[in-house]
Amino acid sequence: MITCVISGATSGIGLSILNILIKKKISVIVIGRSQKKWNLLKSKNHSLNKVKFIEADLSEIKFVKKIKKKLQKIKCVDLMINNAGLINYKLEINSLNYEKTFFTNFLSTFFLIKILLPKILKSKSPTVINVSSFASRFGKVNLDNLDQKKNYDSWQSYINSKLMVSLLTKFYSYKFFKKIVFLSWSPGYTKSNLGLNSSYIRKFIFYLRQIFGQNPNKAAVDFFHALKKFNNFKYSGSFIFKRKIILDKFFQNKINISKKLYKITNKIIFKHCK
Ligand SMILES: NC(=O)c1ccc[n+]([C@@H]2O[C@H](COP(=O)([O-])OP(=O)(O)OC[C@H]3O[C@@H](n4cnc5c(N)ncnc54)[C@H](OP(=O)(O)O)[C@@H]3O)[C@@H](O)[C@H]2O)c1
Repeated sequence: MITCVISGATSGIGLSILNILIKKKISVIVIGRSQKKWNLLKSKNHSLNKVKFIEADLSEIKFVKKIKKKLQKIKCVDLMINNAGLINYKLEINSLNYEKTFFTNFLSTFFLIKILLPKILKSKSPTVINVSSFASRFGKVNLDNLDQKKNYDSWQSYINSKLMVSLLTKFYSYKFFKKIVFLSWSPGYTKSNLGLNSSYIRKFIFYLRQIFGQNPNKAAVDFFHALKKFNNFKYSGSFIFKRKIILDKFFQNKINISKKLYKITNKIIFKHCK
């Protein structure tokens, strides 16, 4: 039986992907931030009873210990979907002094990969999909100040975090070539709760998405289409927008930044992940 670990499957695109994973009879472990929300979802959808849920706030470093402990008995992970993400409209700093959008969307993804790596490597056909965003194309990386707390801008912080996710996904695809397939996947403009806690103009923009965005179930169908088509070492490191590979040259040209980003983040992860 295939085992999948997915983060942020209590809402939006993640929840739609989870429903398909269950239909495909895949054994699923969800990492989510609210047990209460999970219990409510379960009370409305009994198929979720088959799923193991781990409550963990990915914006705080203490999740590392908890996930390690809770996943101790899991032998092998075939599919990992790093989907949890947020846009934090006000500046929030975590206990390690990192801005929380940066920590949740970017750093926690690679902490989770580090924790699960031995189990992922036990799979016969391991795949890691990091959910990114097309808007990451317009993100910036400041290697001297990764979380860019100064002059905080919620949208800029979000797209920076997503750019860093895709850059490291590319780097990991080289590092684990022929061992693990790594893919970045962007769902496109989708109705969800993302950014709905913003203020004023941004909130209005995000509400427009609730009218014009695609249904998250449609995004989930695209996700499985992309997974089927590109789950192959020859596509590892690719950036997939909905169902197509795009931005190949863009990420290829940034491989030196990816390498430097890897060195910096690896130090942080190593320090806090013993
Ligand atoms: N919607 C779009 O148009 C769009 C476009 C491009 C990329 N994306 C990406 O798609 C992914 C899914 O987002 P979505 O649009 O479906 O938004 P969403 O409905 O807000 O879902 C985000 C999920 O992440 C979880 N999450 C947020 N912060 C967390 C934390 N600190 N710890 C653990 N879990 C946390 C949320 O938990 P709760 O349920 O508890 O809130 C929720 O399950 C994100 O990575 C997002 O960046 C979305």
